[in-house]
Amino acid sequence: MEKQVIRQHTSFIKFIYSSVLVPESIQDLVEDIGFFKYRHMCWAMEESVREGEEFGGTFAVDEVAELKKLKTQRELVNYLISDLETNLRTYSNDNLPTIARFKNDDLYFLEQLKEIKEGRLKGSFKPELNRQLEEPITAFSQKGKLKGVELTSETKNALIFFLMEEIFKEYELILIYSFYKTYSQNSTTNSVFTDLAYDSIYHLKRFAQLAKELGVLTLPRPIPLKKYRSEDIIQFLKENIEEERGAEKNCLILAEKIGNDQLRDFLLFISRQEVYHAYLLERALATLKEKK
Ligand SMILES: [Fe+2]
Ligand SMILES: [Fe+2]
Repeated sequence: MEKQVIRQHTSFIKFIYSSVLVPESIQDLVEDIGFFKYRHMCWAMEESVREGEEFGGTFAVDEVAELKKLKTQRELVNYLISDLETNLRTYSNDNLPTIARFKNDDLYFLEQLKEIKEGRLKGSFKPELNRQLEEPITAFSQKGKLKGVELTSETKNALIFFLMEEIFKEYELILIYSFYKTYSQNSTTNSVFTDLAYDSIYHLKRFAQLAKELGVLTLPRPIPLKKYRSEDIIQFLKENIEEERGAEKNCLILAEKIGNDQLRDFLLFISRQEVYHAYLLERALATLKEKK
């Protein structure tokens, strides 16, 4: 199962990042697959634990790095197709319900992606989509600007710095919260970790969207997850409450200097969510202390 954790984790990264890269008309589909892949990864983690195996935070780094080399939308769709095909080749043990589920989902979505590759949406040919598939991918081009937003070079640099740091952190948190969720025996901590992971996926997507427009999107690095197995969870929760407060502060500082109403409102909205993250972690902490 550890192999499946790596496969589903790799797919999750590819689809959730691609959901901000693809043309709007297919964004929902790619995002849906990304969320299924997130759940598949969590289910593979749970199966691993049931089988008494450890699992880590590695993924197929080379495969993910290929995202940066793709030139057009059509190449991106082909890349996603070949990801599901690679997965399907690993589902030999499909009398296991979890593997059967992966196979069922991947087969269905593979057919939908193949339709899109031919410029079709729900059965009918869409010339507009077919044209969009020839468009270049500029998310990594290092040049770009936000539509309808004028930024000074100082605020633009501050925003880029913020995005790069936060994108990495959100990805890291998704993994760590999912990891702790897998081992958590308590309903409060379980729901706290689940909710935090989903909130972090949302933050990752929104930040990645901005980074894409600016041409400064960055890809994740593997996290040494296994080390968290031996870490004291109480200590982790305390540190992360501080991290969440730090995230709130970073948003507030940037919101103050950004000089654009829409971006300021967005940053304030995110900052208030970070406050709630700290609250959720406080609750988890109180529950665990009570049990001790
Ligand atoms: Fe966040
Ligand atoms: Fe957060």
